[in-house]
Amino acid sequence: MNVLITGCNTGIGLGMTSAFAERGDHVIAACLSTSPELSELENVTVVEGIDVTDGAAVERLAKEVGPDGVDVLICNAGVNQDSPGLEDIDVDKLMTMYDINALGAVRTVLAVLPHMKEGGKIMFIGSGGMGTLQVLAYPSTGNYGYRMSKIALVSFAHGLARDIKPRGIAVSVTSPDAVDTPLLRGVIEEGRTGQAILEMARDIYTVGRMLRDRVDDLSMDTSPEWNRTLAGERAIPKDLLAQLEF
Ligand SMILES: NC(=O)c1ccc[n+]([C@@H]2O[C@H](COP(=O)([O-])OP(=O)(O)OC[C@H]3O[C@@H](n4cnc5c(N)ncnc54)[C@H](OP(=O)(O)O)[C@@H]3O)[C@@H](O)[C@H]2O)c1
Repeated sequence: MNVLITGCNTGIGLGMTSAFAERGDHVIAACLSTSPELSELENVTVVEGIDVTDGAAVERLAKEVGPDGVDVLICNAGVNQDSPGLEDIDVDKLMTMYDINALGAVRTVLAVLPHMKEGGKIMFIGSGGMGTLQVLAYPSTGNYGYRMSKIALVSFAHGLARDIKPRGIAVSVTSPDAVDTPLLRGVIEEGRTGQAILEMARDIYTVGRMLRDRVDDLSMDTSPEWNRTLAGERAIPKDLLAQLEF
């Protein structure tokens, strides 16, 4: 199976690259620049210089796809450079997050879609707590830009899933809960969340395998899938979902 993932040098992208590669899948691993951990993996083609805000770079990534095409595309690259609350909102940061987290995934999909196999799968890495679910069932405040960018991603995924249904390509937005990555540690250092979150954060290699399982489970029957936990359970319970007004 050929898997293409963005943001692979570290964090969840590295964990997923390792998970697919260890069982013999071939991974095209896009990154801004590689890391020792990524470079040492087998079954991996590392493609550096892939800034998802740069359309030409993403087109170059698509050219790395061989004649066999792509079975699985995972749009993972993302940042969280937010401000804690309403009074701190910095519109330039909001624009940056939208450009990377939402439009970066759009650019990647548009470039790679012509190379996707019939029956392929596309997974977006969302954020359950701050985007995918919270705005619907568990509303709260703060981290405006990050949440807005992830909701935009869900919106794109839903439209995309319907448009590419005739090709048999399934789509999901999957939320990895808390994961011990440079992104999460940056948020803690800035005081936007407490140190205690690290106690429940999983490591990148465990999460990489769990996300691989979610990809394996994804099918046209559940596409567009957005309401599953990492363990594959329903994130918003059915009875609560039924009470929500859309
Ligand atoms: N960690 C969590 O608890 C958590 C929870 C829910 C969702 N997520 C989501 O999971 C995804 C991965 O996050 P992570 O925690 O693994 O963060 P991370 O460790 O900071 O990794 C983010 C990856 O995205 C890359 N990246 C950043 N800007 C980019 C750009 N403009 N173009 C291309 N690549 C870019 C980074 O490259 P560099 O290292 O070179 O900057 C890195 O490879 C993100 O979408 C994030 O929102 C994370």
